[in-house]
Amino acid sequence: MEPRLSGKRLGHVASVAETIGRIARSWDAEDRDAALRAAWLHDAWRSESPAAVRAAILAAGEEPDPWAARHAPVLLHAQAAAAWGRVEAGELDPRVILAVRHHPTGHPSWDDLGRALYVADFCEPHRPFAASVGAERLVTRAADSSAALPAVAFEVLALRLARSVRDGRPVHPDTWRTWNAWAGAPESP
Ligand SMILES: [Fe+2]
Ligand SMILES: [Fe+2]
Repeated sequence: MEPRLSGKRLGHVASVAETIGRIARSWDAEDRDAALRAAWLHDAWRSESPAAVRAAILAAGEEPDPWAARHAPVLLHAQAAAAWGRVEAGELDPRVILAVRHHPTGHPSWDDLGRALYVADFCEPHRPFAASVGAERLVTRAADSSAALPAVAFEVLALRLARSVRDGRPVHPDTWRTWNAWAGAPESP
């Protein structure tokens, strides 16, 4: 990812990879490798211009997510990274693609890999808010027991939602769908 990212952003990605390595330390080698690939891929398009992000999505044969395009174009870096990973970078594991594709919003279909990326992305120690949200404690819990990962991911989702509400930012429908799925509410049609 070095040609695509530099400085602070590359530091963030390296820290996400290290953090997900902690969370996945007791997984089998194949799953742990997949988690590390997701970490390295997730922000590959985060430093690109909106036009380049859009072009990457279209070049992969996808339409940019209309909600993100309208309300929060920055979210499209996730779709671009997933599309590029699938088409150009040879990522064949659908769990990696699903994790990367939805890493800023959450997704109700995620397995452990998606949840681990979500937790590591928010909790890596370079985040300026890491101490105030107790990020280290969250990572330790997720790393100590894979049974704790869903609960930790749910906590991270609650923290992220609270921050969006506090800042008056719009919330992507996938985030609400994830919240309802993880909180046990029936899916709305
Ligand atoms: Fe991101
Ligand atoms: Fe990130």
